[in-house]
Amino acid sequence: MAIEIIATGRAIPAKRLTNDDLANRLDTTDEWIRSHTGIGARYVAEEGVAASDLALEAARNALAMAAEQTGTAVETLAQSLDVIILGSTSPDYYGVPATACIVQDKLGAKNAAAMDITAACTGFIYGLEVAAGLLTVDRSRKRALVIGAEVLSRIVDWNDRGTAVLFGDGAGAVLIERTETPSEGKNRRGVLRTILRADGSGAERLRIKQGGSRYPYQSGGAESPPHVEMDGRMVYNFAVKAITGTIEKLLTQENITINDVARIIPHQANARIIQAAGKRLGIPESKFFLNIEEYANTSAASIPIALDELNRTGRLKQGDLIMTVGFGGGLTYGGNLIIW
Ligand code: COA
Repeated sequence: MAIEIIATGRAIPAKRLTNDDLANRLDTTDEWIRSHTGIGARYVAEEGVAASDLALEAARNALAMAAEQTGTAVETLAQSLDVIILGSTSPDYYGVPATACIVQDKLGAKNAAAMDITAACTGFIYGLEVAAGLLTVDRSRKRALVIGAEVLSRIVDWNDRGTAVLFGDGAGAVLIERTETPSEGKNRRGVLRTILRADGSGAERLRIKQGGSRYPYQSGGAESPPHVEMDGRMVYNFAVKAITGTIEKLLTQENITINDVARIIPHQANARIIQAAGKRLGIPESKFFLNIEEYANTSAASIPIALDELNRTGRLKQGDLIMTVGFGGGLTYGGNLIIW
């Protein structure tokens, strides 16, 4: 049995904001943002567009790719879905309903279970393992959609230059399928191994304080509306350790070296974090795929957006061993090893 990724999709809002656009309204510069993060631009959803809208578009694009490959109609594929897992830090609603349920309805996925994963920027890595697990434990389940979707522009404080410059909106989706008769040898495909970890001792270092049961948001109170707060330095140090540790563990557990890995697709939070981790491990920068310059940090969406970009431009070859690695609020971290 194997769990294979058979299609990918993404959705990026049309509105692009460059660093210079931000510098017009914040005390920052293109030079500072680029040199500290590698970010050059980000996309921002129009008013009225929520995480589920971007998720739906990404999901439809993934199903359309699968429809083209298999000759099955998108609607039929949607009805054949058994599971929809969606990771988001900026869901349509906090707590309930799950954004995944809104996507499930609009997609016409009548036979699917649907739920959200709260693992912040590690949401896709967690979601892929949860979905793969659900397909593995019950043979009546065959297909799942794993989505990362964010409209972070609604939950950043646009007056805080320390966070506002970092984030962008977007969604990515992958369609996964359980096959009972996987190909062997060099035609082998699928999710090989996953590492998932958390360190809740850092929970307060990256959070949306207001709006939950700990600090209920009081309308008219002195507090500003719910927004992302972060101890940037601490998160930076945690991230470098999380990435290096996860890469080392995945290689050791699978008994392989970095030379066996065609590409690492890291969560796109800060190019400097990736460069620092690569340097520590002696991994050339070219091994890491980076698109942060164009999209900024799209949290749970960053890895599936990157996968779709690579996939649609023919930069992932069947049989390539690829690695995802990510970290985020929680604090959470982890990675997947996948044979494409
Ligand atoms: N433009 C200009 N100056 C800025 C700025 C901005 N957008 N943001 C912060 N600064 C200033 C600070 O005010 C500070 O000024 P001071 O020295 O006069 O006090 C100076 O730059 C250094 O700030 P600091 O926060 O120490 O910068 P840094 O080198 O740690 O970089 C981050 C800040 C946020 C880029 C970096 O800490 C980081 O990337 N952390 C991880 C964040 C992350 O990945 N979060 C998501 C996890 S999924």
